Amino acid sequence: MNDTARSEYSGTAVVTGAAGFIGSALVRRLIAQGATRVVSVDALSYAGDVARLAAVADDPRHRFIELDVRDQGALTELFAAERPATIYHLAAETHVDRSIDGPEAFLQANTVGTLRLLEAARSYYSAASDSERAGFRFVDVSTDEVYGSLGSTGAFTEASPFDPRSPYSASKAAADHMAAAYFHTFGLPVMITHASNNYGPFQFPEKLIPLALTRALAGATVPLYGDGGNVRDWLHVDDHADALIRVAQRGAPGEVYLVGGGNERSNRELLDTLLSALNDLTPGDIDHRDLITLVSDRPGHDFRYAVDSGKIERELGWRPSVPFEKGIKATVAWYLANRQWTDSISDGRYRLERLGQGR
Ligand code: TYD
Repeated sequence: MNDTARSEYSGTAVVTGAAGFIGSALVRRLIAQGATRVVSVDALSYAGDVARLAAVADDPRHRFIELDVRDQGALTELFAAERPATIYHLAAETHVDRSIDGPEAFLQANTVGTLRLLEAARSYYSAASDSERAGFRFVDVSTDEVYGSLGSTGAFTEASPFDPRSPYSASKAAADHMAAAYFHTFGLPVMITHASNNYGPFQFPEKLIPLALTRALAGATVPLYGDGGNVRDWLHVDDHADALIRVAQRGAPGEVYLVGGGNERSNRELLDTLLSALNDLTPGDIDHRDLITLVSDRPGHDFRYAVDSGKIERELGWRPSVPFEKGIKATVAWYLANRQWTDSISDGRYRLERLGQGR
């Protein structure tokens, strides 16, 4: 770390959405890397699960509080008591298919939720001491999906115009505009990140990778939307967590940073790699790739996302470190070793059914 970098580890970090897939990876990483205090905030809606925080639950530097970010009064009290140096905002509804089935919940959680959190942060920041104000950062964690859909070439950059096309990405774009407005209008030290598709341990099984693994292990078909040609850029969740910490430490308030894995794959290629890894790690000679079944496409299905991470690499020295094939193998191994976790979800909260057909 250079001399001008803030020490992320010496102040209190508040993480919203901390019982989610990416938020919990960030909390585990902060604690493992020596953070002095981490306050995990989560509403524990359907996709939140404190099991993801089991590794840090008994650590005296960690506190969990159940709270919906729309509860501005509770946030205001929390910030007054905890005096955060950093707020990482990851609380969100994130599944495109669910947003097709019910857009309103996304506007509420993602847009209204972000507005209330920004407002609570602003009132804390405006009354803070000079040294607290100097060290304070707000990291708004968003998605590459706000930039819309690419053709077969090119990549999103920080200069790309927003062009959200699903209720999910529209709700995130609105939240991001609000976060930028709080920087420009109120001087809140906000930085915004847009990451590509994440993968790794503890992802909720409505998303492609854990859904495919969980269904394949149950001997069920693995649904591939459309012709399987849609392209995503895959980023390991630990690399994403490192990028967020790097942005908090070294990023410049008001700046936007794109975070990609540099692993563009069509969904067909991804499932081939994933299910081949599953074949290698399970006994017997079942070829799980035979379970791949083409199904009708998602309405408004974005064709391709690709992210140019040049800015965060050049300016903040972040680079993804998990090679794709290795990361996928380790992820498959994790799901095999933690089947009770996915079973605990597919037994009740989500039964691995198809969502988001726009009916
Ligand atoms: P998903 O994990 O839902 O993430 P996102 O829509 O945010 O990219 O889907 C990843 C890709 O996989 C996307 O192109 C849709 C596709 N997909 C399938 O082909 N089958 C499925 O069962 C799911 C859930 C997604």
